[in-house]
Amino acid sequence: MIKQETVDKILDAARVEEVVGDFVNLKKRGTSLTGLCPFHNEKTPSFHVSVSKGIYKCFGCGAGGDSVRFVMEHEKYSYPEALRYLAGKYHIEIEETERTPEQAAAQDRRESLFIVTNWAGKFFKETLWDTEEGRTIGLNYFRERGYRDDIIQKFELGYSPEGWTALYDRAKADGHKDEFLEATGLIIRKDDGGVYDRFRGRVMFPIHNLTGRILGFGGRTLKTDKKTPKYVNSPESEVYHKSDVLYGLYQAKKPILDADNCYLVEGYADVLSMHQAGVENVVSSSGTSLTSGQVRLISRYTKNVTILYDGDEAGIKASLRGTDMLLEEGLNVKVLLFPDGNDPDSYVQKFGSTAFKAYIAEHQQDFIFYKTHVLLRDAGNDPVKRAGVIHEVVESIALIPDAIKASVFVRECSVLLDIEERLLIAELNKLRIGRAKKADRKMEQPQAQPQEEAPADNQGTPVPVARVSSDLLHEREIIRILLHYGSKPATWEEGDIPIAPLLLSGLSDVSFDDSACLAIIDIYREYIDRGELPEERVFIAHRDRTISDLAIDLLATKYSLSPNWNDEKRKIYVSHESERLEDLLYGAIYRIKKRKVEQQIVKIREAIKEETDAANMEIMLANYQRLKDVSKVIAEKLGTIVVK
Ligand code: CTP
Ligand code: MN
Repeated sequence: MIKQETVDKILDAARVEEVVGDFVNLKKRGTSLTGLCPFHNEKTPSFHVSVSKGIYKCFGCGAGGDSVRFVMEHEKYSYPEALRYLAGKYHIEIEETERTPEQAAAQDRRESLFIVTNWAGKFFKETLWDTEEGRTIGLNYFRERGYRDDIIQKFELGYSPEGWTALYDRAKADGHKDEFLEATGLIIRKDDGGVYDRFRGRVMFPIHNLTGRILGFGGRTLKTDKKTPKYVNSPESEVYHKSDVLYGLYQAKKPILDADNCYLVEGYADVLSMHQAGVENVVSSSGTSLTSGQVRLISRYTKNVTILYDGDEAGIKASLRGTDMLLEEGLNVKVLLFPDGNDPDSYVQKFGSTAFKAYIAEHQQDFIFYKTHVLLRDAGNDPVKRAGVIHEVVESIALIPDAIKASVFVRECSVLLDIEERLLIAELNKLRIGRAKKADRKMEQPQAQPQEEAPADNQGTPVPVARVSSDLLHEREIIRILLHYGSKPATWEEGDIPIAPLLLSGLSDVSFDDSACLAIIDIYREYIDRGELPEERVFIAHRDRTISDLAIDLLATKYSLSPNWNDEKRKIYVSHESERLEDLLYGAIYRIKKRKVEQQIVKIREAIKEETDAANMEIMLANYQRLKDVSKVIAEKLGTIVVK
């Protein structure tokens, strides 16, 4: 662990404009710096850096954070990796806290496993290039399949010798321990205690993590007899968690960001051939169905996925399955099938890279439309089957979290399915309500909030839309005021005490529901109890992502860090807001109180309806009356405040 003092030193030194400036060409515009966002494709800059707040925010894709977050997101580093990078940039010496013996053992063990797998990678690579057996068997195989040397090198391909203990013997000679060779699956122990190499006489595909370290291997046989398994793979280990790894992502991460799209293929061969054809934004699920961990991995780099499959029946079926997860994660999913049982690898090798690129450019189809076509084709004119198709298509649409996108699919599928849009929407709502109920039951939500009116389609049927509850908006407004004005003096009060304690004492009877808002309030209270106020950095650099995200979002709201900062009206508004802090403060206090009281009134009214005991009823009615009075007082107070 890096010592907190070192972390503080790094955070102090790492000026956001310098850290971001290493990757983004920033131009000064008013009080902030702007540039083209490195996290999504854009032609006009919507990426802003606030030097005074030490944060960046993109108003196009929503990315935002401080220096550390920038390095984490841009370089795909973990938190400690990002700190080390910044320490290097600013020549800060890293001091580590003492590790407990258990921590040290666990960390050292992981490190030892990495050392062994990376050593083995080098061994396989050297065997391929520098030994007679490797060159005549392995290297020849790759070259005959049409792979260029630069591709073989880029993916660090290798060869494992035929002998039973070739790797083991070399490992022992190089001083590696059985324990780690066994834990990474490089050797297998027999019942009699002897050991042998897992990979023998195979061409080797190392599997890298995001920073390029080798986690494990896939080894392909060169024999054609049916008894030999085509691939032998490294087992799961403390460093190799298959469900969180995608083959080729290390080599593809930058191309995926640049293309804002990721091709998903089945095998190693497909990844290699596509790279060779110049299409580098490609990863492989290595023959298994996608896991949610892998989907989340992709969605860190892009929201657009194109699945490439064999065009045979099995490929089509496979493409229909396993896409649910992609849709649920909010990814835009396209599919592409190759003709006559070709896969991406065989297509490139047969027709060349120009034809390949043209083919994938022309034959991508949106998943939902593709699914509709395939199912309709199978259903023929059978009315029962056609009804089933409608249901299945709607099931996929219902997974899409973005309501606007879903409604576009509804419209277009209604044409394809030759069915009225409103019937599809009704079906969709039915599914969604069913799912929402299930989710509600899971989370045991206390009560459903009354919601604003849903927008309707042209037939007047409500279209479901994801909403931020207005409760949350009120809570966030309080936090926004705290973050922006908490340390400003309340000039209208005796002694110019800061806004934060004033605001919080006004809210002592209000309970916050949102956990991130509540956490920020609690941190403020802790500081205030000590007679201090927290700096912005406490929240911006908070390790809990929900807290730092909220703080960054609120600090970068249109009032302070705006793409339209030069919009005259808004500038006037900003000065307007900060000059009327008293109204802002009390307006916010009374509005959230009004909201909470109204909720209590609704609750108690419901309870009164259910109550049968007269004495209880009387108490409830009294409470009800009291709440009504409070609500009236609040309304009057609000009335005296100039509402914006
Ligand atoms: N696979 C595996 N074990 C097998 C067969 C396949 O782990 N017995 C995985 C491998 O990751 C492989 C992927 O499934 O890359 C796809 O299988 P396949 O298309 O058969 O392999 P390719 O790598 O495409 O091999 P080739 O083109 O050389 O036949
Ligand atoms: Mn293949």
